[in-house]
Amino acid sequence: MIKLDLSGCSAFINQEAFVASLAKAREAFGVLESGTGAGHEFLGWNTLPSQIRQRQIDDCLAIVDDWIAKEVEMVVVIGIGGSYLGSLATIAALNHLFGYAMSSSSGPQVVFAGQNLSEEYLAELKDQLLVRNCATVVISKSGTTTEPAIAFRLVRNLIQRKYGREEARSRIVAITDANRGALRTLADREGYRTFVIPDDIGGRFSVLTPVGLLPIALAGYDIEALVAGARYMQRICAEDSDENPAIRYAAMRNALYDSGKDIELLASFHPKMRFFTEWWKQLFGESEGKEGKGLFPASALFTTDLHSMGQYIQQGQRKLFETVLSVENSRREVLLEEEEDDLDGLNYLAGKNVEYVNRMAQEGTRMAHIDGGVPNISIAIEQLDEYNLGQLFYFFEKACGISAYMLDVNPFDQPGVEAYKKNMFALLGKPQ
Ligand code: PA5
Repeated sequence: MIKLDLSGCSAFINQEAFVASLAKAREAFGVLESGTGAGHEFLGWNTLPSQIRQRQIDDCLAIVDDWIAKEVEMVVVIGIGGSYLGSLATIAALNHLFGYAMSSSSGPQVVFAGQNLSEEYLAELKDQLLVRNCATVVISKSGTTTEPAIAFRLVRNLIQRKYGREEARSRIVAITDANRGALRTLADREGYRTFVIPDDIGGRFSVLTPVGLLPIALAGYDIEALVAGARYMQRICAEDSDENPAIRYAAMRNALYDSGKDIELLASFHPKMRFFTEWWKQLFGESEGKEGKGLFPASALFTTDLHSMGQYIQQGQRKLFETVLSVENSRREVLLEEEEDDLDGLNYLAGKNVEYVNRMAQEGTRMAHIDGGVPNISIAIEQLDEYNLGQLFYFFEKACGISAYMLDVNPFDQPGVEAYKKNMFALLGKPQ
C-alpha cells in the first residue's frame, strides 16, 4: 500500500490547524460520496475500479492480439489532456528508458500524437508511419477536439493510402462517446472498432477506462494488475476516517494552501515518473484552478532539477511546498565498485548501490528544503509496477475530488479551457 508521511509539514502546520483541515476534508469527502456536490454527474470514476469486468479487459486484449498477429510495430495513440496523459504516464513509468527494443514489452511501440499542433512533430511521425507496420487508436470524448482531429485526419489518410480502405478499418480503433461527436459519426460510418468513454467519467479521471487501458495493454503491460491496484486503493479510500490517506493528503495540502503556500511541487527522484507528474498536474490543475482559487501544481525531477530549480526551491519566494513521490524498491541493481587509485574519490561508496546514493540524496534534500522553509509531504510506493501505479492513480483522483470540494469548486468541469479555442477558431475562420 502507498505510504503517506506528513511529518515534514509539522514545523509549518500546527496540530490544531491540521485537525481543523481534516474535519473540512471529511466534510468534503461526505459531499463526494453522497454525490451531492457540484459536477456530481461525473462521479463514475469513484467506483469504477470495482466495476470493471473481465469482458472489458478482454476486449482490450483482443485488439492487442489482433495487432500482434498483424505484426504491427508502431501504434499511434491520438488524444490530448485526459485522453492521453494517463496511458503515457504508465507506459513511461514501465518502459525501458533507453529504447523500446529493450523494453519488457512484447507488443508494438506506442507513440503519441494529437497533443500538440507542431508541424514538424506530425511530419516526423509520418516519416515513421511510412516505413513501419502501423495502426492507430484515436481517443476523444467530445469527438470534436481540434488537436487530435487534425492528427487523426493525417494518420487515417496515411493508413488508408498505405493499406487500402478495407484493411485500414482493422488498423483504426476509436474511443469516444457512445452517441455524440464527429469522431463517433466518422467511426460508425467507416465501420471502425470502437470503445465507449462512459458519460459520467471526465477525461482526466479516465485512465482506468479504455482510454488508458487499451494503450497500456498495447504497450505490453498488465492492465489487470493496474485495475487490481486501483481496486485495492478504492477500498482504502472509501473509509470515512481520519486515517483515509486521500482525506489526509487533501487536508494537509489545503492547510498549507491556507497558510500561504500556494504552489505544490510534485517531485520524484525517478526519471521514469516524469510523465506521471504531468498526469498529476493536469488532474489537479484542471480540477482546482478556477474561480481565482487553487494550488498551482508544478513538478520537478530530482536530482536533475536540484541543479536548476534547487536554488529557487531552497531560497526563493517561500510560497511552495513539496510532495515527493518515492519508490521504495528499485527493480534493478547497479553496484559501485572499488578502484585501486580512487582518482575520482568515490571509494567511500564502494559496495553500495546507486539507489542507496539516490536515497541519501532524497533524505538530504528533504532536510535541506524543510530547513529552508519548504514543507514536505512524502508519498511512497513499493515499486514501479502496474499494481502500484493503479493505487497511485486512484489515490490522487480521490484526493483531488475531496480537495476541490474543500475549495468549493466543481472538480469536474474546465470552462477556462474554452478561451484559447474561441480565439483560435476566430483566427482560423472556423465556420459557426
Ligand atoms: O480532463 C479533461 O476533460 C480534458 O483534459 C480532456 O481530456 C481534453 O480536453 C481532451 O478532450 P476530448 O477527449 O474531448 O478530446
